[in-house]
Amino acid sequence: MDPSLRDAARRAIGFMPDDEGMALYEAALQAAPLGPVLEVGSYCGKSTLYLAAGVLEAAADTVVFSVDHHRGSEEHQPGEQYHDPRLVDESGKVDTLSVFRNTIEQARVADLVVAIVGASEVVAKRWATPLGMVFIDGGHSMEAAQRDLDGWSRHVVSSGLLAIHDVFPDPEQGGRPPYEIYRQALDSGRFREVSERGSLRVLQRV
Ligand SMILES: C[S@@+](CC[C@H](N)C(=O)[O-])C[C@H]1O[C@@H](n2cnc3c(N)ncnc32)[C@H](O)[C@@H]1O
Repeated sequence: MDPSLRDAARRAIGFMPDDEGMALYEAALQAAPLGPVLEVGSYCGKSTLYLAAGVLEAAADTVVFSVDHHRGSEEHQPGEQYHDPRLVDESGKVDTLSVFRNTIEQARVADLVVAIVGASEVVAKRWATPLGMVFIDGGHSMEAAQRDLDGWSRHVVSSGLLAIHDVFPDPEQGGRPPYEIYRQALDSGRFREVSERGSLRVLQRV
């Protein structure tokens, strides 16, 4: 991975450990020739940089679409466990959009990353472009995770990749919804597992 992009990704605010980010980069590098990469859950652009590095290196003339309403998930709201007081606008609402934009621009990948600001389910319902890769890291409630699986996995092309973050088979280690949708994708017979790193799972459309 491009060293300056990796450095920027490591320094960015967010929830993507470097080893899992490298697995994302490798997946994007493999998938980009098949079509655009789309992530649900941009936050401040940390995972986006790993994906952009893969797309850049693939030289496949494609982009990363990064979907987020930029108002944070339940756990980012004031008073919740992962609230970051730096990420609040003048009205007191969580707002990650300007930090996301800075992350992307400072890393010089603005030509490779298209921010889509809106609710994942609203965008997914109207989406029509086949995707080389989908990365799900949005809302972690069962309802949100289910909507993301149902809304986005159907757009992954044959041999394309579906990556899911925060998959914890052991309930002691983390919440269940990402694990539940990972199991559903596998049990559907439409995807097979190709890699596992930390809590990141990468599946391939059969
Ligand atoms: C865990 S964070 C993503 C972390 C990020 N991938 C990283 O590398 O740091 C989850 C993000 O999903 C977004 N999100 C939650 N529910 C959403 C929804 N229904 N539509 C769009 N974005 C959503 C939140 O605003 C939040 O920024």
